[in-house]
Amino acid sequence: MLAELALAGSSVLFRGASLEAQAITAHEWIVAGPAETGKTFALMHRLAGILEGTPRASGALVRKVRTDMTGNVLVTWQRVIDARGGWSAYGGEEPKWFDHTNGSRLYIGGMDRPGKVLSGERDVICVNQAEELHLEDWETLSTRCTGRGAVVEYPMLFGDCNPGPPSHWILSRPSLKVLHSRHEDNPTLYDEQGNLTPQGVRTMAVLDALTGVRRERLRFGRWVSAEGVVYDLFDLGAHVIPRLEIPASWPRYRVHDFGFTNPYVCQWWARDDDGRLYRYREIYRTQRLVEDHAKQIKALSVGERIVADVCDHDAEGRATLEKYLGIRTTAARKDVLSGIEAVKSRLRPAGDGKPRMFFLVDSLVERDPSLVAAHLPVCTEEEMGVYVWALGPDGRPRVKEAPVKENDHGLDATRYLVQHVDKPMLEVKSFQG
Ligand SMILES: Nc1ncnc2c1ncn2[C@@H]1O[C@H](COP(=O)(O)OP(=O)(O)O)[C@@H](O)[C@H]1O
Ligand SMILES: [Mg+2]
Repeated sequence: MLAELALAGSSVLFRGASLEAQAITAHEWIVAGPAETGKTFALMHRLAGILEGTPRASGALVRKVRTDMTGNVLVTWQRVIDARGGWSAYGGEEPKWFDHTNGSRLYIGGMDRPGKVLSGERDVICVNQAEELHLEDWETLSTRCTGRGAVVEYPMLFGDCNPGPPSHWILSRPSLKVLHSRHEDNPTLYDEQGNLTPQGVRTMAVLDALTGVRRERLRFGRWVSAEGVVYDLFDLGAHVIPRLEIPASWPRYRVHDFGFTNPYVCQWWARDDDGRLYRYREIYRTQRLVEDHAKQIKALSVGERIVADVCDHDAEGRATLEKYLGIRTTAARKDVLSGIEAVKSRLRPAGDGKPRMFFLVDSLVERDPSLVAAHLPVCTEEEMGVYVWALGPDGRPRVKEAPVKENDHGLDATRYLVQHVDKPMLEVKSFQG
């Protein structure tokens, strides 16, 4: 029999780390564990409970990137407050804060767009997917949650996270209490006797289907590094940068990697006067026809001067794009190893200390819900950490031989684009459909 507790006056059950999270008073704590153990659900209840329990308390709910909150943690938050009652949202489509009838307020923000989150002292700050934060982000938040002027009994900075690499700061911060969450903690997955529920069977099948480091982390909750990461130079801090206004004079490119069951990827890139590349928009979607992508691409590109459309070698896909976009496409150079080298040399810091390619934050046009549900990468940046060299018979990555053909949809597109820009083909072939 699992220890569990029904939340006073409601039918919500908590077990294990989710239960501990309802009462812990540590100043800094994080619930860590694989996907779907109930971490976010438990945190939203604790957060709401603290704010409801003290009139005029001030809280913040934060994630690394603001747009990543929509469709994720904010859905869970909304479900929790709908059940608890007394809350209203302000700020329209993209809520900026929520007020409770007792005068407490919860600000919503990303580290990229903190809004009011960082503008004053907060009684409590709750971080979703804390593994995405750098230690400096967490420390910045802690300076807004020192307890000065706090009205709640236990001011705290807390969060949830999935495992990352073993070197992650979450594992080595002495002042941080880490609670370990397990699938058995989630009553929708396991019943009171500890048997999988029908929902549990479905959820575990999704997690069992994962591969590589995502399986280790999201299925088993292990803090492991991906072995043999191809783009080990990639650093979110250096390569993913805030959005910038792209001057009309910079040439722009689109690059397409076709897919239906696997995601179709279209990236928009711009090149500055020094030759640096900026990915400023991205479609990353499964289950959609090229024709529909083409219509969306056309609408999104209005007023932009696109100098080339570089394409994966799919005759029908190219013909469809050419027809609907009224363009000629350029065949991608497909040599994998030289393409990887070309991307790597752009990721490496140049003489001025800056890399020569950047991914602008918030580039994704829409998040594919079926990829979210399957716990697969939803954009190119998310492929970076999990695109790996195949293992040899000795179990070691065969570096510079062949990458595993997984988690490579956006990265293939990136490789085609860099090859196109850096080593233009002598003869630009257009598909004659
Ligand atoms: N204690 C609980 N009671 C009811 N439903 C729960 C509970 N814990 C988790 N769930 C449900 O299980 C699913 C996964 O929970 P979530 O908090 O999103 O997991 P995680 O953040 O660990 O990935 C959600 O649909 C959530 O509503
Ligand atoms: Mg979660």
